[in-house]
Amino acid sequence: MEIQRIRRAAKDLLKSRKTIAFTGAGISVESGIPDFRSAGGLWERFDPEEYAHIDAFYSNPEKVWMMLKEMFSLILKAKPNPAHMGLADLEKMGLLSSIITQNVDGLHQAAGSKNVIEYHGSHRTLSCLKCSKSFDGTHLTVEDLPARCPSCSSLLKPDVVFFGEAIPWKAQTLSIMEAKSCDLILVIGTSAVVYPAASIPFIAKQRGATVIEINKEPTPLTYKISDYLIEGPAGKILPEIVQEVKRLREAREDY
Ligand code: APR
Repeated sequence: MEIQRIRRAAKDLLKSRKTIAFTGAGISVESGIPDFRSAGGLWERFDPEEYAHIDAFYSNPEKVWMMLKEMFSLILKAKPNPAHMGLADLEKMGLLSSIITQNVDGLHQAAGSKNVIEYHGSHRTLSCLKCSKSFDGTHLTVEDLPARCPSCSSLLKPDVVFFGEAIPWKAQTLSIMEAKSCDLILVIGTSAVVYPAASIPFIAKQRGATVIEINKEPTPLTYKISDYLIEGPAGKILPEIVQEVKRLREAREDY
């Protein structure tokens, strides 16, 4: 069953005028970063209301940094996996216009993807909520965390979108433009339960796009708007789709 869907996805990609990808934490699980809502996920150990809401950061930044330090320690040593590489290959082949990612781990860029929209911000910069200054965090090691403002020594906040915060305006605008203009969207490794991010596949569908889900299990999208779900690990499925695309191109087979 999955092999047929891999073949179907490769043909859909080759027929598509404009394809985008929408990714969630599931695409980075095979890089060693647990997702949020699967068994053993981050929210099993840290209640998001207590650790990932902007009000929690204002009232108790030290506590929130306990969760952030665990997340950063995994992100800082993570490497792109074959799923990230597969999307970078598709972009190089001219078959992927952009990636809208909910992830803040930077692994799509590390894999070589150029057009990446970080819908929930990035771990690479941090801000001081008192001085409103922004700081580069790419040199930080786990030992440097939690990071403090050099001017007022308040705890810095990573430029990731906390619950209760607005989506960065540029990311929101670009994402909607991409979703409205694509005719194929690959929805990879997301439970599609967090809004407004989860509205992206719906916007694409409303414009007539084909929706292909790649996930280890069905999601709320599967029986609502997805044309089909390719069930399994993204790190296995994406390279297989790329391989099938290359085979079809070389064989100049009709698709
Ligand atoms: N391959 C494919 N899918 C996977 C894999 C894998 N190897 N591992 C896990 N998944 C799937 C899970 O089955 C689940 O459907 O990825 C999805 C991960 O869902 P979540 O943990 O909810 O992560 P995500 O959808 O990215 O969460 C959205 O919620 O907490 C906030 O800001 C946070 O950006 C995050 C947002």
